[in-house]
Amino acid sequence: MRSVITGTGVSLPPHVVTNEALSRLMDTSDEWIRVRSGIQERRYAEPGQGSTDLGVIAARHAIADAGLSPTDIDAVVFATMTPDHVLPGNGPLLQTALGLGDIPTFDIRQQCSGFLYGLELADLFIQSGRYRRVLLVGAEVHTPFMPWHLGWDTLIGQSTRDITEAERAENTLSRDRTVLFGDGAGAVVIEPREGGAGLGTIRLHTDGTGAGVLTMLGASFKRRPFVTHEQIQSGETLPVMSGKEVFKAAVTLMPQAVREVCGASGLAVEDLDLVLVHQANLRIIEGVQKALGLPPEKVPHNIERYGNTTAATLPILFHECRAQGLVRPGMNLVFTALGSGLHWGAALYRT
Ligand code: UT7
Repeated sequence: MRSVITGTGVSLPPHVVTNEALSRLMDTSDEWIRVRSGIQERRYAEPGQGSTDLGVIAARHAIADAGLSPTDIDAVVFATMTPDHVLPGNGPLLQTALGLGDIPTFDIRQQCSGFLYGLELADLFIQSGRYRRVLLVGAEVHTPFMPWHLGWDTLIGQSTRDITEAERAENTLSRDRTVLFGDGAGAVVIEPREGGAGLGTIRLHTDGTGAGVLTMLGASFKRRPFVTHEQIQSGETLPVMSGKEVFKAAVTLMPQAVREVCGASGLAVEDLDLVLVHQANLRIIEGVQKALGLPPEKVPHNIERYGNTTAATLPILFHECRAQGLVRPGMNLVFTALGSGLHWGAALYRT
């Protein structure tokens, strides 16, 4: 018996924000963003729309796709680094909005590796016989990180005012991060099935010595009070990132994790039909593809349209690959991710 993804769904919010639009706010360009990251546009949620809202829409589609009703779900795993509230987590909010039973919900926070860690939990739940129908959601609304007081409302049609030179200069300070992120959600339903298809070897890793390379220092319970107006003004409520270090870790550790699951499953890397890589940067995705010696068509991407949606990239990409007919029965597929923590790993999935 294996844990099989029986339904998928996504939610991609309505506001399309192009590189061109961002270059009106700060010193950046469509060319820089495309060449360095591969991103052409990303989606921004409506004001007031949180990661639970996007997760609920994606989950509804995934449950219907699996041919189930919300009351059939036995457990929820919700992966996000941008929850609606510090407490409670998104799980109970999604449970109520979907009308699920009083089933357990787990909120997990492994950032870009959230979906991968969620697959591990879902598989363990199902293999142990504890829960049969697990809903796994990856959803993010990153836009509140952005410095909205510096003219970001113009990006979603809420204002048409001109951006001042001082605002441009301030926006430029965080340009290495703000251009990368978008909002979105993906959800999957996972159920036990007899036969060879389903989740296989999963290998997860954490290295806390890398915690500082991608972190958010503001809004911290080590501070009193935990957030101040000054922290917001000085940009401390936006993640800080050592881009090059994350980049290097990503192109080294993701191929390593893919090889690890192949080795543990008796597969050669060439036996893989599809490798779905966390969508953080097209150069990272291509770096992983080249390190594994795979042809580009085996490593699909959609980062050009959505940017980095953290825990949502893998379920959105898997959903789109299914919709495009790229996922066919009998394939060896691997999910791999790396992100803040550092957390990384890979999961083999036989379609
Ligand atoms: O999901 C996990 C989360 N994050 C990641 O995986 C991110 C991993 N890292 C990256 O994707 C890349 O390191 C970045 C896209 C963030 C940056 O690319 P890079 O090639 O490492 O650029 P860089 O940081 O070396 O910056 C090169 C130049 C700098 O200017 P100087 O110092 O050479 O004059 C930056 O100030 O590019 C400048 N720059 C920008 N210019 C225009 C940084 N951001 C921008 C921007 N527009 N948005």
